[in-house]
Amino acid sequence: MNDFEFQCPTKIIFGKDTIKKLRYEIPQGRKILITYGGGSIRKNGVLKQVKEALEGFEYSEFGGIEPNPKFETLMKAVEIVKNEGYNFLLAVGGGSTLDGTKFIAAASRFEGDPWDILAKDAPVNDALELADVITLPATGSEMNCGAVISRLSTKEKLSFLSPKVYPKFSIIDPQTTFSLPEKQTVNGIVDTYTHVMEQYATYDVNTPLQDEWALGIIKTLIEEAPKVLRNPNDYDARANIFWCATCGLNYWISLGAVQDWATHMIGHELTALYGLDHGETLAIILPSLWRVMKKDKMDKLAKMAIEVFGANEFLPKSLLADITIKKTEKFFNKIGRKIKLREYGIDALEAATEIKKRFLERAVVLGERCNITPDVVYEIVANA
Ligand code: NZQ
Ligand code: ZN
Repeated sequence: MNDFEFQCPTKIIFGKDTIKKLRYEIPQGRKILITYGGGSIRKNGVLKQVKEALEGFEYSEFGGIEPNPKFETLMKAVEIVKNEGYNFLLAVGGGSTLDGTKFIAAASRFEGDPWDILAKDAPVNDALELADVITLPATGSEMNCGAVISRLSTKEKLSFLSPKVYPKFSIIDPQTTFSLPEKQTVNGIVDTYTHVMEQYATYDVNTPLQDEWALGIIKTLIEEAPKVLRNPNDYDARANIFWCATCGLNYWISLGAVQDWATHMIGHELTALYGLDHGETLAIILPSLWRVMKKDKMDKLAKMAIEVFGANEFLPKSLLADITIKKTEKFFNKIGRKIKLREYGIDALEAATEIKKRFLERAVVLGERCNITPDVVYEIVANA
């Protein structure tokens, strides 16, 4: 196992009717800006619950944060925060709202051009206090310190990490997810599955506990996904899916292990170029990446075939790895997710050429062994 340090300061408040606990978690005297997206929280009654819980607090609202939150929109919020002196941000919504709010928190205290936080890895030395009521199980953003931000003008989608943007607390009431459109439920399941795989399906450095946690999340997802799709109001299934999503990217499963993230990096380009949802891009890229990089990932994929899919342990490893790839595709299909670029009307060779060019310009190599060069990226996308 590799060395690691870990500290997550986020308090998780999980369960039914927990939004009302907001008032006990936000320190008195804070001037709060509630941030949200396109209005789902108005329709499903979450905003009403938030306002009731904040009675007596000073607060205002900033709505309109898009899915794949846009730098241009977030900078408007940064202006408001600075001009009106807000000192607490409360994100209410999905991962995009929360990621956008993390960026607002960092950018409001940043000297210089805040885009540098994303484009030049400029250090985030300070950020406003933030917390959230998260309504979509997918990103794990509620218990991690990452955020992914898009820029309309340049068609870029970039991420940053900083311990300064860990939420102070996250309220997870699975009931808020009853209103999710099926497509978003599926996006969240695919995102969680892929997060786990980015951290598990690499090379082995002897982390059996982390591997079992990772595969435990995958087994739970496979069992619970059909239940929420059959009955969107199944509280227990919604709760289990949410906790899978949170644990899928709160860094526990990657402690001391080796990580990949190439599927995500390539997927972000598909979103930036073609507007596909994050969860759509991952189902397209993950199986193709595994086929191209199979030799490197063979041991872990084979172990997963045995432990998750019940395959015969005496089969050759290469066959076992194939089983995991096929079963994963089958699972994505079963929950209603398309897994080929052409199914979205996208020409794979065209996409491969453009994405290769972008990685060449940025001089980026990807993967746990840093061997996914722009040429390999081309192959992965062309075969997707
Ligand atoms: O905008 P509103 O009206 O709120 O509607 C949203 C949006 O249209 C809707 N929604 C959210 N909760 C709902 C709901 N509709 C009904 N009922 C609810 N309870 O769902 C739509 C999608 O929301 P969004 O926040 O965009 O989805 P998600 O949570 O999947 O976030 C995706 C973003 O997170 C980034 C992605 O790249 C993408 O930009 N990621 C962030 C990560 C992180 N912070 O660690 C890691 C991930 O890999 C990912 O990259
Ligand atoms: Zn993701």
